[in-house]
Amino acid sequence: MLEFNTLDDFEFRGRSVLLRVDINCPLRKETLEIEDDNRIQQILQTLKELLHKGAKVAILAHQGRPGDWDFIPLDRHAKVLSRLLGKEVKYIDDLVGKVALDAIRSISPGEAIVLKNVRELAYEQDKKTMEEHAKMELVTTLAPLFDVYVNDAFGASHRSQCSLVGFQAVLPSAAGRLMEKELKALSQVFSNPARPSVFILGGAKFGESVKVVDRLIGKKIADWVILVGVTGNAPDQGDDP
Ligand code: 3PG
Repeated sequence: MLEFNTLDDFEFRGRSVLLRVDINCPLRKETLEIEDDNRIQQILQTLKELLHKGAKVAILAHQGRPGDWDFIPLDRHAKVLSRLLGKEVKYIDDLVGKVALDAIRSISPGEAIVLKNVRELAYEQDKKTMEEHAKMELVTTLAPLFDVYVNDAFGASHRSQCSLVGFQAVLPSAAGRLMEKELKALSQVFSNPARPSVFILGGAKFGESVKVVDRLIGKKIADWVILVGVTGNAPDQGDDP
């Protein structure tokens, strides 16, 4: 049985919440506009619930990787989020400076802001332990301003990165609704799969999919694995994009 805190375990009225999400979206290369906002739609349930319960929410997220063409600021994401939510979500072009700290302190209950792409911080993607990440400026500066850290970044949470693991060492933490749903589904599938058990794996990350396939077959969790997308068409086992 999985054990973790969810949004049901906290009182949110008037509380400051740091919400880590995965809204890393496919972009149109020519315009850098968001091509598919599915990832943004997926965080709406958690965000709406937090705002409805009167939380003051600051959103932490990334887009792309430093050096890549799709490594852009999150102002476009904030606009799409505002449209989907039907309520303005301001973009703050700062993370740990005075502008960010003032903006966080000014959030009213039921309001949310989006902070700057967290991968602007050189150390964000360093591979470190929770305790080591907790000593980085992102965590030491922001954590004192928040009551609860909520992780709804399911698609990125296989990474031991600062914004994904550092805050849990110092703040009460919970899974968001997307994370909760995915963890429960995975737990069911891995611990008690229905037979025959067929897994369909897609996406662009061939190397990571291969590890999953090895586990599924090796531990006899899957009877069949169907590979689609880039993973299904990869000519060889190259590095992930
Ligand atoms: C993703 O889109 O797969 C996640 O946001 C993780 O991104 P990353 O592979 O750049 O860490």
